[in-house]
Amino acid sequence: MAKRSIFICQSCGALSNRWQGKCEACEAWNSIVEEGATSGIGAQAAGLAKKGKIFALEGLDGEDRPAPRIICGIAELDRVTGGGFVAGSVLLIGGEPGIGKSTLLIQASAALARKGERVVYVSGEEAVAQVRMRAQRLGLSNANVELAAETNVEDIVATLSKGPKPALIVIDSIQTMWSSMQDSTPGTVTQVRGSAQALIRFAKTTGACVILVGHVTKDGQIAGPRVVEHMVDAVLSFEGEGGHHFRILRAMKNRFGPTDEIGVFEMTGLGLAEVSNPSAMFLAGREAQSAGTAVLAGMEGTRPVLVEIQALVAPSSLGTPRRAVVGWDPARLSMVIAVLEAHAGLKLGQHDIYLNVAGGLRISEPAADLAAAAALISSLTGAVLPAQNVYFGEIGLSGAVRPVVHAALRRKEAAKLGFSHAVGPGGGDKKENFALELQSCSHIGALVGDIAARAAAAKRKPGEPPATARASNGARAHLDY
Ligand code: TYD
Ligand code: MG
Repeated sequence: MAKRSIFICQSCGALSNRWQGKCEACEAWNSIVEEGATSGIGAQAAGLAKKGKIFALEGLDGEDRPAPRIICGIAELDRVTGGGFVAGSVLLIGGEPGIGKSTLLIQASAALARKGERVVYVSGEEAVAQVRMRAQRLGLSNANVELAAETNVEDIVATLSKGPKPALIVIDSIQTMWSSMQDSTPGTVTQVRGSAQALIRFAKTTGACVILVGHVTKDGQIAGPRVVEHMVDAVLSFEGEGGHHFRILRAMKNRFGPTDEIGVFEMTGLGLAEVSNPSAMFLAGREAQSAGTAVLAGMEGTRPVLVEIQALVAPSSLGTPRRAVVGWDPARLSMVIAVLEAHAGLKLGQHDIYLNVAGGLRISEPAADLAAAAALISSLTGAVLPAQNVYFGEIGLSGAVRPVVHAALRRKEAAKLGFSHAVGPGGGDKKENFALELQSCSHIGALVGDIAARAAAAKRKPGEPPATARASNGARAHLDY
C-alpha cells in the first residue's frame, strides 16, 4: 500500500491532507508538520491503526475516593486551585515575564516543604545560585526544597523517579525544556509538546503534582502549542497591571475546581504577600467627591469584591467618537450606551467615552452594567454620586435592571466596608436584615432621573425651590425606594 502522510497543525492539532503555510483552524503560521500515517494521530485518521484489545466499560456509580489534595498553606493559591493541588495532576501557570511566577512558586514550594513534603524545583531559566539567592532574600532558605537547573526532560524524569515520590515538582519553564526523543530545537512547538507529555505521564504514573510555568505572548496567550493547555488539568493565569503592586491569580481551566475564583497578592520587597481583603485595597485612594465614579459591588467567584468604576464622558471633536475601556468588555459598554440612548434618552453619540476599572482589575460579570451606567450618567451630568452608595445589577436591552446572583453577599461586603446604601434590582432577600439599605432600581430611567435630580440640586442656589427632578432629555423618574 502506498505510504500516506497526514499534516497536523502543531499548535491546535487540526488535521489536513496537504501542507499549508497557515492553519485554517487556528490561523497559526508555519505550524503544520507532516507526520507519517503509520503511527499516532495520523494513523487513526488514515484508518491504519492496529486492532486494539477489548477492555471493560464501567458505570457512573462506582466507588472512588476523591483525589487527595495537597494544601500548600498559601490561602489565596489554594483557593484558586480549588482547595489545594490534586495529587497526580498537572497545572500550567502562565504570565508575563517579571510578573512574579517564579516568586510565587518558590514561596509555594517552600511552604509545602516546611510541611514535610518532598518538593523539587527545576529551573530551566535561572542557575541554582540565582534561585537560592531569591529564596534567601525571601527568608525561605531553611525550607527543604530540592533545586536543580536542568532542561532535559528525560534526565529530569530519571532523577525524580529515584528516591521517595515528590509531592510537588515545579518546572520553570516548559518552554526551556527539551526531550531527546524529538529532533527539533528547544522552544519549538514539538519540543514543548513532547516535554509536556513526558512530564504529564510522570505525574499520572507517580501521583506527584507537577506545575509547569508557561510564558505568554504579547496578546496574553500561553506561548507554544495550545494543545498543552488541553493536555493539563488546570491552567492558571498570573496577571497584574503595570504600575500596580498587586497581582491576580485566575483559574482559566480547572478539572478539579471552579474557574471563577481569583487569588489576590501584593508584590512587596519580601515577595508576594496575600491580600485577604481585596475590596479595601481596590477602594484605597478613591476620590468619592468627583463625578464619574461609582462603586461596583462585584463578585469574583465566591468572593465579593468592591471596586470603583470610573467613566469620562466628554464632547468629541472627532467624526467617530472614541470609546476606550480598560478592565471591562467593550461590547458590554456599547450595549449600556445604546440602552441609555434608547430608553433613557441620553445623547452620547457626540461624546468620547472612557471607562476604567480602577486598580487594574478585569471584570467580566454582567452585574457591572448598573455601576458602569451610573458612572457614565454621573460624568455626563457632572453630578457626584453619593459616597455611601454601591451599585450592582444587569441591564437588559429593554432598559430593565435585572437581578444578579449573590445579592446578599454583595450587600454584606459593602456594609462591612462602611457603605450604607446599595442601588440594585429589587426583590430577593427582603427578609434579611442588613446594615445596608437597598434602593431598588428596576429601570435604567429611574437611575438617570435620580442622578439628573442630584445634578439639578447641586446647581441650584441655596434657598431656591427645587424643580421637578428631570433629566435633560425629559426622563422623569425616581428610584422607587
Ligand atoms: P519573577 O518571579 O522573577 O517573575 P517571573 O518568573 O514571572 O518572570 O519576579 C520578578 C519581579 O518581581 C522582579 O521584577 C522584581 C519583583 N520582586 C519583588 O518586587 N520583590 C521580591 O521579593 C521578589 C523576589 C521579586
Ligand atoms: Mg521566572
